[in-house]
Amino acid sequence: MQALVLVGGEGTRMRPLTLTRPKPALQLVDRPFIRYIVEWLARHRITDVVMACGFGADPLREVLREGGGRGPRIRYVEEPEPLDTAGPLRLAADEGLLGDRLLVLNGDLLSDLDLSALIRAHDERGAAATLALHPSEDPSSYGLVRRTGGPAGPGTSPASAEGEVLQFVEKPDPGQIDTDEISAGAYVLERSVIESIPPHKPVSIEHEIFPRLVGQGLYGHRLDGYWMDVGTPERYLQASWDILEGRVQTAASTRVGGAGLLVEDGAVVDPAASVNPPALLETEVAVGAGAAVGARAVIGHRSEIGERANVSSSVVLSDCRIGPQASVHEAILAPGVEVGEGARIEAGAVIGEGARIEAGVAIADGARLGPGEVAS
Ligand code: GDD
Ligand code: MG
Repeated sequence: MQALVLVGGEGTRMRPLTLTRPKPALQLVDRPFIRYIVEWLARHRITDVVMACGFGADPLREVLREGGGRGPRIRYVEEPEPLDTAGPLRLAADEGLLGDRLLVLNGDLLSDLDLSALIRAHDERGAAATLALHPSEDPSSYGLVRRTGGPAGPGTSPASAEGEVLQFVEKPDPGQIDTDEISAGAYVLERSVIESIPPHKPVSIEHEIFPRLVGQGLYGHRLDGYWMDVGTPERYLQASWDILEGRVQTAASTRVGGAGLLVEDGAVVDPAASVNPPALLETEVAVGAGAAVGARAVIGHRSEIGERANVSSSVVLSDCRIGPQASVHEAILAPGVEVGEGARIEAGAVIGEGARIEAGVAIADGARLGPGEVAS
């Protein structure tokens, strides 16, 4: 079975992190985000993967090469202009890369949903297209799916396993929400659907293709398990804790283990520092005396946490330097950030690659600092 992964979005909501590297190449816990997707596909015996990359495949090629060449075959499609969510499928077909049936994934998902069950459901019904469905407390930022046998209202259980889609509403208004089932961004398509996509132009699968397929063999199949669209800094942090705490089945969670704590060989933690799980300290991390790291912390390769500094509920990527007595709380620091002595980084802050926060400076709640910027 073959899969195509849509990874060409701009990742606007993840700025400034996505100003210096594309969202799929961002590190999440111990590996680049896209590797979770490839590992998820491999667990469901997908042997052939096409990455639809927008215009730049190079950063992705680079991070996937580090995987060591094991796993599925991976090919790349680059778009002459962004073709939205359906255009890349047609382009890949026109380039001769696709067979008769295709599993499509949005490239920003962290999930362990049973893709094999989705493919089985598609085959058993002889569907033209089958959408994975998942409950969401807030369908307004997703594609709402109304179907036969679906839940009677938000929070109620589905009445049965039928699943003919009655309506597909992308980003519904509050008044349109009468079910909690959304499209999980994973679907199986027959080639006929791909051939119905107009060529050489941007086409939205959610706005133009799915609504047109209603009544023409479009089904939805509800899957239970872990599912998260890692599209915002808040969800990126939550995804990190979910991996460390083993709420999602991934190779990274297995590596961290049940205690939720992994201090890699070569990380040096002063005996007078405390490290509280869940936490991951990568190789060559140094934690000074009196510092407190965690609960909930990822500290990337070679980063240094100064004496009596405090890092909690935060992701500090590689090569950062946190000065003595500085504090970092509920924040994300891209690689190479420097935080001066006694500086404070407050909840929701996202700091771009190579930025510098001078000694004693406080970065407010929710602030963004661009790559290389200096806060003084
Ligand atoms: N190749 C390519 N080209 N990929 C693109 C393009 C493009 O022009 N535009 C977006 N993508 C990719 C993104 O990188 C992402 O992986 C995927 O398409 C979906 O785009 P998002 O921008 O993340 O959409 P969304 O999260 O608002 O909504 C989509 O996902 C929801 C589930 O997470 C929709 O499919 C919703 O219906 C769905 O519920
Ligand atoms: Mg998304």
